[in-house]
Amino acid sequence: MSGKIYRVSGPVVISVGLENPSMYDVVKVGKLGLIGEIIKIDGERSIIQVYEDTTGIRPGEVVENTHSQLSVTLGPGLLGSIYDGIQRPLDKIKEESGDFIERGVTAVPIDQQRRWHFVPKVNNNTEVAGGDIIGEVRETELIMHKIMVPVGIAGTISGLKEGDYTVEERIAAVSKGGKSSEIRLSQKWNVRSHRPVREKIAPNMPLITGQRVIDSLFPVAKGGTAAVPGPFGSGKTVIQQQLAKWSDADVIVYVGCGERGNEMADILMTFPELSDPKSGKPIMQRTILIANTSNMPVAAREASIYTGITIAEYYRDMGYSVALMSDSTSRWAEALREISGRLEEMPGEEGYPAYLGRRIAEFYERAGMSTLLNGLTGSITVIGAVSPPGGDISEPVSQNTLRATRVFWALDSSLANARHFPSINWLNSYSLYTDDLEEWYSKNIYEDWDKVYKRCMSILQKEAEIKDIVQLVGYDALPEEDKLTLEAAQSIREDFLQQSAYDEVDTYTTIKKQGLMLRCIIAIDEAYRVASERGVSIEELRKNPVRQKISRMKFIPEDEVEGYCASIMQDAEQIKGKAHK
Ligand SMILES: Nc1ncnc2c1ncn2[C@@H]1O[C@H](COP(=O)(O)OP(=O)(O)O)[C@@H](O)[C@H]1O
Ligand SMILES: [Mg+2]
Repeated sequence: MSGKIYRVSGPVVISVGLENPSMYDVVKVGKLGLIGEIIKIDGERSIIQVYEDTTGIRPGEVVENTHSQLSVTLGPGLLGSIYDGIQRPLDKIKEESGDFIERGVTAVPIDQQRRWHFVPKVNNNTEVAGGDIIGEVRETELIMHKIMVPVGIAGTISGLKEGDYTVEERIAAVSKGGKSSEIRLSQKWNVRSHRPVREKIAPNMPLITGQRVIDSLFPVAKGGTAAVPGPFGSGKTVIQQQLAKWSDADVIVYVGCGERGNEMADILMTFPELSDPKSGKPIMQRTILIANTSNMPVAAREASIYTGITIAEYYRDMGYSVALMSDSTSRWAEALREISGRLEEMPGEEGYPAYLGRRIAEFYERAGMSTLLNGLTGSITVIGAVSPPGGDISEPVSQNTLRATRVFWALDSSLANARHFPSINWLNSYSLYTDDLEEWYSKNIYEDWDKVYKRCMSILQKEAEIKDIVQLVGYDALPEEDKLTLEAAQSIREDFLQQSAYDEVDTYTTIKKQGLMLRCIIAIDEAYRVASERGVSIEELRKNPVRQKISRMKFIPEDEVEGYCASIMQDAEQIKGKAHK
């Protein structure tokens, strides 16, 4: 028996007479069979949020319960895909319905005809359990796709054989106590529940992003969480895209959630052209894009977030490091608010539902570095953009996000207006991973990195204090020492922190080069101070061409940077030496 539509209110549909409804059952709504999900059950009535436009849907039309939960299909063929919020491949649904996506269109998430060459990695008749890797498929040049036993299945494996299979064909069976389960290259997972791990462990290495202000000053760990709040135009999207392009995660999931379509179009144009700095291979080989732009139905924003994180967990379970960017989580929160309003739930702060904080926390909890069910280690780093109205982060989405994340990149409109990009404010931002990562940095950049980093931070903080004093007494009244601090801070800001996303060289800086750049800036500062002690004036020091040399350093290609740095260090010695005369 199928139900009937009783009332339609935007993305919310109330149905009556639905057979045996359970929370989060997926239903097909109306003659068009629009995909929706039961989000509330109230006696005879099932309240459904619909993931497609409900215009023209009328009371009396049928509602059918599929009795299954919103799930994603996981298997080879995910990489390089571009999906909408409910994992329909955008190119396939466009093929089917033209530029205007028709409603009720279904499309299989991964190609069912393609054959993948499967190589078993365990012997037949061995004991296996959920999460165990039983074989491999080369999904792209960059990623070896590990075929895992679905969670919840355990027993003796049989029928494994090397060969070419589609994602739907049986590749093995696992049996226990007379019960047998078929194994395929693909499996399904309910997006609302997290994929289990054995245990979470403390992150101990950074996600290297090639963005200097991030890697050097406010790093996020692999398996960590970061929030990027900022007003309109402050650079959230550019940062998220830079991270998606350059981060050294194995797999990237980029969720465009509720933002303008042209931004997503920009990604769709540029990403296929880019190659990964480490391997030189196209980045789409390790990337999955999920696009739920502002013109698409609001309810699907939530689905897009869950679809994204579930796919991220699946690749993590293979032992990979995955990074997920979501732009913007505020649009998801706004969708929650809209749906909650239509359900006439008791509103919390600023009209958001009372469970907003819990939903946000649960999302970020799916990040982490973990020991997996199969004993490997994998990680998910989650970086969420937040768009507080007017840039005021005292609002609920920002506050709840800051509670749930450990890195805060505070985007600042005054920096953006001054064309200081990335406009990450170095005084307000923080990373709670700095201590955990110190060892990694001293091993991988250089031994005394910590000293250089701390010196840099103290110069920047001192600059802020001195600027307050300058307001009162004027620049000329400052002691030489403070004037030198201002010089050094300016150099850190302009020559190091400012980084153009659009310059071919500057767009990505290796961690090694970042270390050398900061070392040079700090060495020149020290040399200036020695010279100043001996009576050399600031005006005189400013005439030294070394400062220009430092400003050019960001544009010096990687393979020349060591020699370049050595020559600046010589200049530093000379500046000190001259002072000795
Ligand atoms: N790292 C950067 N380098 C150069 N320009 C940038 C950078 N970050 C932001 N911008 C400039 O700022 C504009 C707005 O950035 P965007 O990321 O779209 O802001 P938001 O998403 O916060 O609204 C960009 O179109 C670009 O011109
Ligand atoms: Mg944006």
